[in-house]
Amino acid sequence: MHFKKNVLILFLLITFFSCKKEELQVVNPQIIPAPQNQEITEGEFLLSSGTELIYDVELKSAVDFWKSIVTPVFGQNTRKSNKIRFVYDKSIENSEGYALSISPEIIKINANSSKGAFYGLQTLIQLLPPEFVQKDFKSEGLKIRCQNIKDKPQFAYRGMHLDVSRHMFSVDFIKKYIDAMAMLKMNTFHWHLTDDQGWRVEIKKYPELNTISAFRNETLIGHYSDQPHQFDGKKYGGVYTQAEIKEVVTFAESRMITVIPEIEMPGHSQAVIAAYPELGCSGEQVDVATKWGVFEDIYCTKDETFDFLEDVLDEVLELFPSQYIHIGGDEAPKTRWKTCKDCQVRINAEGLKNEHELQNYFITRMEKYLNSKGRQIIGWDEILEGGLAPNATVMSWRGTNGAVEAAKSGHYVVMTPTSHCYFDYYQSDNEDEPTAIGGYLPLEKVYGFNPIPEELNAEEAKYVMGAQGNVWTEYMPTEDHVEYMAFPRMLAMSEVVWSTSENKNYKGFVSRLENFHKRLGVLDINYANHLYEINDEMISEDGESFYKLETLTEGKDIRYTLDGNEPTLNSEIYTSQIPVSESVELKAAVFNVEEQLGKTFVQNINYHKAVAAKITIDKTPHKAYSGSGAEGLINGISGSDSRYGDKEWLGFWGEDIIITINFETPKEVSSISTRFHNGKGQWIYAPEQIGFSFKLKEDGRTINDINLIKNNNDLIVNHYYNMEATFVSEIEIVVKNYGTIPDGKQGAGNKAWTFIDEIIIN
Ligand code: ACM
Ligand code: ZN
Repeated sequence: MHFKKNVLILFLLITFFSCKKEELQVVNPQIIPAPQNQEITEGEFLLSSGTELIYDVELKSAVDFWKSIVTPVFGQNTRKSNKIRFVYDKSIENSEGYALSISPEIIKINANSSKGAFYGLQTLIQLLPPEFVQKDFKSEGLKIRCQNIKDKPQFAYRGMHLDVSRHMFSVDFIKKYIDAMAMLKMNTFHWHLTDDQGWRVEIKKYPELNTISAFRNETLIGHYSDQPHQFDGKKYGGVYTQAEIKEVVTFAESRMITVIPEIEMPGHSQAVIAAYPELGCSGEQVDVATKWGVFEDIYCTKDETFDFLEDVLDEVLELFPSQYIHIGGDEAPKTRWKTCKDCQVRINAEGLKNEHELQNYFITRMEKYLNSKGRQIIGWDEILEGGLAPNATVMSWRGTNGAVEAAKSGHYVVMTPTSHCYFDYYQSDNEDEPTAIGGYLPLEKVYGFNPIPEELNAEEAKYVMGAQGNVWTEYMPTEDHVEYMAFPRMLAMSEVVWSTSENKNYKGFVSRLENFHKRLGVLDINYANHLYEINDEMISEDGESFYKLETLTEGKDIRYTLDGNEPTLNSEIYTSQIPVSESVELKAAVFNVEEQLGKTFVQNINYHKAVAAKITIDKTPHKAYSGSGAEGLINGISGSDSRYGDKEWLGFWGEDIIITINFETPKEVSSISTRFHNGKGQWIYAPEQIGFSFKLKEDGRTINDINLIKNNNDLIVNHYYNMEATFVSEIEIVVKNYGTIPDGKQGAGNKAWTFIDEIIIN
């Protein structure tokens, strides 16, 4: 009896330990961001309490970090069976570079600074099982595959931004975000602390910033473009105390991350004017903003404003040791300045030409102040308006023109164009994604970003410090939601800024990411998983059309149906492109041998008369929104109802376009329809006019017709054109750009974008 019980316990123990071993196998080297140079060798190193720690003092802060995670796992050092050694090595040129060599006897991390050693450790941690960093994880010993890695970053600035004005997040969450950045070898946290909807940094000299500017009475519900606007009726806000900010900055330092605070000026300052109306032009009381957008109540340019901002910055500088202070500068409508006595006096006294030069005066004056305190300014690309402050660094967000202009005039730039760096945009064209601000920025597009604009030569390119992912939180009320939007796009961005283009390969990244999911899971990061979504493409050749499906993941099947039914494990496996000669609804999904993995992909192919015809456009679409090229406008597939950046929409910035469709054999045409995106918040305006001309089959005559487009302010504007059925050999469509964005609207004064979708001909 007794004996049997012991055998049973022994059996259970053996099973337990063998299971555990199975669970924690040696990790396949799947590092993100991809290292420069990695060579796998023979054997394994056993990391345990017997691993002796040896280090040069120069690398002590990295060593402290290592001790803080390794000690709880293995407990106190006992035997001395092998070694981990941190070597201060001046032959490593890049201060963030490292060499990591792992043999059965010793792990060596060589670096010339704690930063480099820290990144060596981040790599080492990725060679350990994900559970290693889990709280309360204990182990007897963990095996690491032997290898040699030499690594260094491509760019010196590797950033992530977080807006805490629109929504605010706990100090613990901010630290978690910073920790994840460090894991990905990012080094700059851009903390967007002030905006129209709330002030978030405690300032002792101006207590009403903390009690009034920090709170809004309520918040917009739903999307800004949902009319009429509705509000939740709940007071929202708060500030981070100076003690909390110091805690974050100290934590970030331990993770080799610089925190750059952003204090917005002269625009996005309605929350301040709510508490201190005398800092606005009109002196009138306004409320902290309760909805999103751009607001006209900006700082006045009288001396009182500068006194106030200097006082505020004095406290900010105490909290943030960063070289850079971000002074915003974006989206500052000049409406109030134009009619303000003080601002007009300023323009005259300073001999300025207009309000744009007044913006330059504002920024330059603040730059002078910050320079006098030993700091540098960085600002959004609007700081180029009316001339650039002498030492300013530009953060280019409205495309890359700002960066090109700044770099060509010898200013440093950080790349954050909306097209590739705005993680508040949708990441999937699934219609059931949580509401986002708009746009479409899938993982692959982030991954494909090259921070060096092609207009720059090698010398000018040196001014590109790096890039940054931006997380604006209008539509992210919770921490979970921020994570959903930031991950995995942050991983793609980490590779954009760290890895060389030779080491980048999207398919390989996807495979590493699939493996990395477990790590994100252990870290309790609510990442979005769109890896099992399907890529599709319509191909037309010699008048015939084929539909192609693809999954980027390995060892999975795509199964599909053409009869409207949901795909199942019994549905046909996709093996080669599907011929299409009529309209059809296709449903497909990625499966492993047991189950469906991703969501079902549904595509309605509308086999209309222009599919597989010839098409040309007299202008090339903007390179950030080139969809599937001109052919994509007649491929039978319509773009997303909400994501203008998908591969079906084409975007043109400020240009009129002429689209020509040719039929090899004339077709009988009785209707043409197309649609335009009208996301005004994103500077996209449906055109007001469209022209059609038809070359007739029988006599080659051309008929012209110009239509006004009815714009009902919906996000999508449809245009239908009907005619008496006629055989035509060519159709020309002239699309007039909307023109300049009017005053008072987001992007006022800039050229509007035109986004056009499928041209359906019947
Ligand atoms: C910005 O997105 N307004 C910089
Ligand atoms: Zn004024």
